[in-house]
Amino acid sequence: MKRRKLVAGNWKMNMAPSEAKSYASKYPRLLKRDMEVNIIIFPQSILLPILIDEFKNSGIKLGSQNCHWELQGAFTGETSPQTLKQLGIEYCLVGHSERRHTFGETNVQTGMKVRTLHQLGMTPIICVGETVGERERGQTEDILRTQIDSALKDADPKKTIIVAYEPVWAIGTGRVATPDIAQKAHAVLREYLKQRGLQNTTILYGGSVKPDNVATLVSCPDIDGFLVGGASLEPEEFANICLLTLNASR
Ligand code: PGA
Repeated sequence: MKRRKLVAGNWKMNMAPSEAKSYASKYPRLLKRDMEVNIIIFPQSILLPILIDEFKNSGIKLGSQNCHWELQGAFTGETSPQTLKQLGIEYCLVGHSERRHTFGETNVQTGMKVRTLHQLGMTPIICVGETVGERERGQTEDILRTQIDSALKDADPKKTIIVAYEPVWAIGTGRVATPDIAQKAHAVLREYLKQRGLQNTTILYGGSVKPDNVATLVSCPDIDGFLVGGASLEPEEFANICLLTLNASR
């Protein structure tokens, strides 16, 4: 089965409502229609209700940057996955490096979020990746295995997941992984997923992706697309990354 290519844009805690609307209005002329199904944008969750209308009929999907593992309850400041579902959101990032390292999200919590998203029929994008210290100590493979195992502990094997390999040292640093480093990590992840019958999972690379490093990365056999942070904030730059990825042959 041919794996689907996908580009995801993580806006993080950026974009005012007016900027987000102007961004959305530029998309129809930047991208060809038949390519749009493979693009997902992750804005701040308070922007989602505004952007659902703005991106309607564009083919571009919207996702949430995070959610809680419970459907609802006394969790001040959290985002309910059930509310996301009711808004029509199908995708949610889980275990992003900034959630893990700045907000202390644990492997166990990541697994609980995946379970809940699957129960709701939503697709988690599971973010994994080692720190620079872990890489230097030769622990990369162990870290990736532990993060994947925990994330999939209570996952529904019949439901879809997407995985994003994002080495912590490459996120927001301008220090992109070389194609060799990225391909090795993706091959390791694909092997773990294969052991669970999930070898056709889409695996994205993330960390300082820019239009000028997309072509070499996307030619790697196990890289199916990108999770783009900083470069997704400029509509022209992001559209360029999408076109380069979706047009590249492997
Ligand atoms: P970056 O972020 O592209 O700005 O490095 C990637 C991410 O955090 O998903």
